[in-house]
Amino acid sequence: MKLAVVGSGYVGLVAGACLAELGHEVQLVDNDSDKMAMLLRGEIPIHEQYLPELMSRNRQQGRLRFADSIANAVKTSSVIFIAVGTPALVNGAPDLSYVEAVASAVGQHVGEFKVIVEKSTVPVLTHQEIGKVMMLNGAPAESFEVVSNPEFLREGTAVTDFLFPDRIVVGADGSRGAAMLRQVYEPLTSGAYYSQSDAIPRPATFSGKARLLVTSAKSAELIKHASNSFLAMKISFINAIANICEAVGADVQEVCEGMGADSRIGERFLRPGIGYGGSCFPKDLLAFRLVAEECGLEFGLLNEVIKLNEYQRNRFVRKVRSALWNLKGKKIAALGLAFKGGTDDIRESPAIAIIQAFCNEGAEVVVYDPEAMERARCVLQDKVQYANSPYAACAGAHAMVVLTDWQDFAELDLGLIRRALRHPIVIDGRNLFRREQMLAAGLHYYSIGRPTAAPAKSSHSDSQAAVEEMLTEMRSVESVPNLSA
Ligand code: UGA
Repeated sequence: MKLAVVGSGYVGLVAGACLAELGHEVQLVDNDSDKMAMLLRGEIPIHEQYLPELMSRNRQQGRLRFADSIANAVKTSSVIFIAVGTPALVNGAPDLSYVEAVASAVGQHVGEFKVIVEKSTVPVLTHQEIGKVMMLNGAPAESFEVVSNPEFLREGTAVTDFLFPDRIVVGADGSRGAAMLRQVYEPLTSGAYYSQSDAIPRPATFSGKARLLVTSAKSAELIKHASNSFLAMKISFINAIANICEAVGADVQEVCEGMGADSRIGERFLRPGIGYGGSCFPKDLLAFRLVAEECGLEFGLLNEVIKLNEYQRNRFVRKVRSALWNLKGKKIAALGLAFKGGTDDIRESPAIAIIQAFCNEGAEVVVYDPEAMERARCVLQDKVQYANSPYAACAGAHAMVVLTDWQDFAELDLGLIRRALRHPIVIDGRNLFRREQMLAAGLHYYSIGRPTAAPAKSSHSDSQAAVEEMLTEMRSVESVPNLSA
């Protein structure tokens, strides 16, 4: 099929590359000319597993192209995916002006029958607004259908999530739109894609064929907001339970295991930490709260989820303060900048907010992240120092603080960390370590919802030589390119 994807952000780029991978002819279009030039040079603006190879092989095979205008992309395509950004406005409502701009451009060039697909996350009833704008721009009502096809991909595993989905939701009020979307996803629903020898590796848990669910357009729009809000609620819930565990000396990991074993609850998204972040949950919760308000309904639960999430960050700063007493003048090694492991995205990252809180209290912060250093430099600038390894970050620090759940951090050599730190203190906002291993390494270990671990003897004098050595390494702190320059 001939498809156009308007918007080349996380969703658009991944959807475009994956749709080409399914055998369709895809045109990508974006009004950011710098981004288009970058893509034409074969550079990928985001860090996402399998995306570079998918982009490159589908471009080589001529299935993935970059259109020079929306008009050209629309004229030659039968299905147009809208995947532009919907950033939050000051009142929490999503800014739908980019969606409107695309709808009016599409309306002007629609020609023969086309399906317009809402891929961006939008409030319920947006499909009706898109339809109205298209008609105001000259598209006859019978020349198009607007379908909602929300995206459930997670950053870091976006390609796998797209190609091996739990479900594909198609919200279509007419039969033609539903039929065309069924055709788009046929290689996944029939399982044909999965038998290809060059298919992206299948996750162990994937059953074999993708399930496609057809609903009304309104229901599909609601499914997206409701799903993200529910997942965020699970996180805030377990964070609140973790805090109760801390108060009574219980272990939240044990509680999670016991709760998660109930198949009605499930163990996923029950990892306590420093709260959720990213470009989706915080924005979608605010938007969904407004949807409820506009319906004249009180959905106080969403307020609580948001409040608990903010509280969790502040509580973590307090935890660091209680471990180090005054933060002023203390050197803190902050491991992690991205909003979660596996991505370089720092949007709404709790790690950044917490580091800023440390800086505001006069701490000297040395940061390290395997992927997000360049992006973080644009925000944190020279308020912090940038280390070239977790060990260099810890050299001479009063404590190591873990803020992002990178697997690399879970595999650190704790003996080296212990020798690098000035004081053997680790405060883990992601529960990456077991208490026993920290005790064995001679570290004081504070985590979320679990009892603190303190080694019987914590003399640190034997490591002074190692500290000196690490401080020398520290002086060679790497400087990462300054994107803001
Ligand atoms: C989220 C959803 O998981 C996707 O299904 C959805 O498509 C996407 O938003 C979107 O709306 O586009 P993503 O933002 O990539 O995906 O990140 P998640 O993996 O959901 O994590 C969100 C945040 O919650 C992260 O800060 C993560 O560290 C935190 N989290 C997650 C926890 O604190 N505990 C958990 O148990 C799980």
